Amino acid sequence: MSEPTTTSQPDEQGTADRGSNRSHRPASTAFKNFVMSQWAPRAELGLTASAAAPHTVSRRAALSERLPGVRLVIPAGSLKTRSNDTDYRFRPHSAFAHLTGLGTDREPDAVLVLHPVESGSGDAGANHHAVLYVRPLAPRDNEEFYADARYGEFWVGARPSLADVEALTGIEARHIDELGDALAKDVGDGGVHLLVVTGADDAVESLVEELRLEAGEDENALTDEKLVEVTSELRLVKDEYEIEQMREAVARTIEGFEAVIRALPAAKEHRRGERVVETTFDGHARLEGNAVGYETIAASGEHATTLHWIRNDGEIHPGDVLLLDGGVEVDSLYTADVTRSLPVDGEYSDVQRKIYQAVLDAADAAFAVSRPGAKFRDVHAAAMEVIAARLEEWGFLPDGVTAADALADDGQQHRRWMVHGTSHHLGLDVHDCAQARRELYLDGVLEPGMVFTIEPGLYFKADDLAVPEEFRGIGVRIEDDVLITADGNENLSAALPRRAEDIEAWMASLR
Ligand code: GLY
Ligand code: MN
Ligand code: MN
Repeated sequence: MSEPTTTSQPDEQGTADRGSNRSHRPASTAFKNFVMSQWAPRAELGLTASAAAPHTVSRRAALSERLPGVRLVIPAGSLKTRSNDTDYRFRPHSAFAHLTGLGTDREPDAVLVLHPVESGSGDAGANHHAVLYVRPLAPRDNEEFYADARYGEFWVGARPSLADVEALTGIEARHIDELGDALAKDVGDGGVHLLVVTGADDAVESLVEELRLEAGEDENALTDEKLVEVTSELRLVKDEYEIEQMREAVARTIEGFEAVIRALPAAKEHRRGERVVETTFDGHARLEGNAVGYETIAASGEHATTLHWIRNDGEIHPGDVLLLDGGVEVDSLYTADVTRSLPVDGEYSDVQRKIYQAVLDAADAAFAVSRPGAKFRDVHAAAMEVIAARLEEWGFLPDGVTAADALADDGQQHRRWMVHGTSHHLGLDVHDCAQARRELYLDGVLEPGMVFTIEPGLYFKADDLAVPEEFRGIGVRIEDDVLITADGNENLSAALPRRAEDIEAWMASLR
């Protein structure tokens, strides 16, 4: 299937019009009149308030509180071309999803605008009134209906009407054609300042930039980075609904891991066994959720020492440890991020078990310090103490370097075998809240409601001459998703076995 286009004469054709060389759109009046007629009245989509909608009121209020008096523009993002007239499946920007509660593929080109109003007189007593600008479903007498491959009902299905969007989100919905005037209103000399979440929609960004230029920029004005930062920081502490969605994402992910274990016999037989693992997990993610939250890492044997091995085209050899790092993103777009390193034959070898235990001990040490009041960086430090100690014990650190030397800022030799960090926040984005300020992230203090990963690992490459041969070609990572509670933490992925003997028993039970 490809976009319908009119046939035009070669001599009047520019390069932008080349697509018309390969397909025809009927242009006759007879066709147009016929295709636009004889349709039953449209069935209502009948959308009702999403489960997220009530929670988004306080999220928008929190944003309003941080940036009073400024017009805040949060685009969903536009469709991204894969090639020519073929788009990638749409996923909204996470700031937009968070503030509107919209998930799955809603809604390309939509823009949430928080219009500043008199202090405290906005939505729910906030300093802003929210309006969602959307491209509603076109009527059947509009060519878009049958001729627009990007937006037309014939091509991509019926989009929600303005009333549908209002019902779904609880936010006033307006036609996207009103966006330009709405953004321009009162901008300029002593008037309203505009901030836009960058990186989501180039066209909206350019529009905002243009309006600001016309108005004459105030040098001291806040920049867009501030809005990006605030929308990221708003998500550091999850609300009740978000935690429930994280639990859901983890539960679906655990099922995906179980499906992979059941598929292991087939994977071991296939010339691209890692792909059997990937597609089993990804298929489960599509069936039970929206998608995967990031590209699945299915890395067997030496491939497990490549941290983001997503080519996944390798064979699974007898005796391998298979590192599976996968996360199901549920329809609300929250994702899990879990890793298990599995002995493909059901039992770890002695050296695999030794490495596994070191990583597990590091993870347990990180769990032990994860509680309100601790610093985010303490979690990593606790894991690193264990990793450095084991590497010293095994004699892998350079001559004369102790674990304590390695742990010093000017040492860090242990990181040769774990170059990544131990933890990152998790939520709508797999690396959530990434634009938060350092003092709230790396130097931040843990609070109830924060969700992050604990994921130490050890990776010994096949050509690593600094370790004995028996260690080479083995990579182990153990990754769990952690919720900070009032008095400690909860391992959200605890239902997935973690200890070596529990993994072996679990694999045997699924065989
Ligand atoms: N799956 C990517 C990560 O663990 O951060
Ligand atoms: Mn992770
Ligand atoms: Mn991961």
